Amino acid sequence: MPESRARGLNDGLTNYGDHAFSRYLRRSFAQSMGYSRAMLDKPVVGIAFTPSGFNNCHRHFPELLAAVKRGVLAAGALPLEFPTISLGEVFLSPTSLKYRNLMSMDTEEMIRAQPMDCVVLMGGCDKTVPAQLMGAISAGRPAIMLVAGPMMTGRHRGERLGACTDCRRFWASYRAGKVSEEEISQVEGQLAVTAGTCAVMGTASTMACLAEALGMLLPGSAAIPAVHADRLRAAEATGAAAVKLIGSQLTPDRIITAQSIENALRVLLALGGSTNAVIHLTAIAGRAGIKVSLDDINRLSDSTPVLVNLKPVGDGYMEDFFASGGMGALLRELKPLLHLDAMTVTGETLGERLAGEEASHRDLAIIAARERPMEPHGGLVALFGNLAPRGAILKRSAADPRLFEHEGRAVVFSSLADLAARMDDPALDVTPQDVLVLQNAGPHADACMPEAGYLPIPRKLAQQGVKDMIRVSDARMSGTAFGTIVLHVTPDSASGGPLGLLRNGDRIRLSVKERRIDVLLDEAELQRRTSAGAPVRAQRGYDKLYAEQILGADEGCDFAFLRAPALAR
Ligand code: FES
Repeated sequence: MPESRARGLNDGLTNYGDHAFSRYLRRSFAQSMGYSRAMLDKPVVGIAFTPSGFNNCHRHFPELLAAVKRGVLAAGALPLEFPTISLGEVFLSPTSLKYRNLMSMDTEEMIRAQPMDCVVLMGGCDKTVPAQLMGAISAGRPAIMLVAGPMMTGRHRGERLGACTDCRRFWASYRAGKVSEEEISQVEGQLAVTAGTCAVMGTASTMACLAEALGMLLPGSAAIPAVHADRLRAAEATGAAAVKLIGSQLTPDRIITAQSIENALRVLLALGGSTNAVIHLTAIAGRAGIKVSLDDINRLSDSTPVLVNLKPVGDGYMEDFFASGGMGALLRELKPLLHLDAMTVTGETLGERLAGEEASHRDLAIIAARERPMEPHGGLVALFGNLAPRGAILKRSAADPRLFEHEGRAVVFSSLADLAARMDDPALDVTPQDVLVLQNAGPHADACMPEAGYLPIPRKLAQQGVKDMIRVSDARMSGTAFGTIVLHVTPDSASGGPLGLLRNGDRIRLSVKERRIDVLLDEAELQRRTSAGAPVRAQRGYDKLYAEQILGADEGCDFAFLRAPALAR
């Protein structure tokens, strides 16, 4: 650690018009916490600490914090944790995405405003990891991330269960009348049985893996289960690594570069990872001045195989991914496709990291060899067309290939309330060949882009055994969900996009081969129709800021004024 460049508690003095007095006052107040002068003279590692009674995924953070502090102290610096907003996915209304940018602002400002030479970002639940990375890039101080780690699975009648793919599977069976009231309540108690993030390759696990692919996590730490002793050792090592970063020029913008973003996109595709990650990675890149285009995803998707066999795309859980070597095994398999000169938070390049790792036991049924992939092409495709001029996303690895080339009649729901009111109406005019459309669920709508794109199969069809239909919306989908679901249609309905012009009975054509989603109407008819879009209208507070600043999914749903100057508008 180059201590001479560490400023410790002398950094960023409170302004009283007299620097010496400011230092004196700060030390005096810091001593009230029981620190010796010797401790207060040390470099400082801030720890963005995000436990919350409303965030089950971060339940073990107090224990992890103790381990981070141990690592920092043993390496010769003073660890000081500070709280920021925490986002527990299922506790937030209307959506956690709405608050991601608020958390990023909180993180950025508290890193900048408080005296710290480096920061450890402790995150995990879905939006917390992108929020912290976005904030840390913008703050511009050396930073390293420690993620919560995934939950272990539960058991139900001899079967392994994990949040949240199995939540959805059992709920769909319950709706279809195949699972009783009593059984669904038994299942409820077995879906999330430990601390940590969802047990499948959902958004949280995808973002943890991408953070490691970006180089912001210690090698091998993304997939360690939350309750495993290795997670505590990783926390201690993260604390020590943070101290090594002090005084270095290795700020997040030197790690998160065009090369590492492309590596992360490759990893996302090979994981068959969450569609939400496209939005988050676009936002993270945007803070570093890098533009991610949906065309990039299609280009990379053509040459990146799906290698990881975890739910919701496959069979396994995160605990299996960890036991099979986790991110190290995957990155070694992808090595010829990666930019190996990308820098990581340890000061090694990705290539140096991988050259120094030994292959361990690996279950090829969980992390496949490149020559025998789960799928020859990436898990995600971007679609364009007159229904989505600025793009949409389909997770083809979680979709039914029989629906990839399909034309059907639109059954349109104008809002989430309309969907809830009519979806299970026995009189609903719908057949399995139709295309279910949800409007006004994008980032500019009052709904703030919920994970509602996984429209339920109408009850009367579910009871006939229909398991999948094409569904199209400007909403997102949980990373743990599956089906032939076109998401993130941009521009969204509430900002005047063509999705908002659809009416019942319009013909919609999906062609995965051509990467298109179209409504079979001519331009003149589209021009004639006026959108019933309902953008967010807010008068005050964060709602007002959100309404004025939110960008589309193709710009990561960041706020316009938070992006790097090169991309600001
Ligand atoms: Fe926190 Fe799923 S609810 S990761």
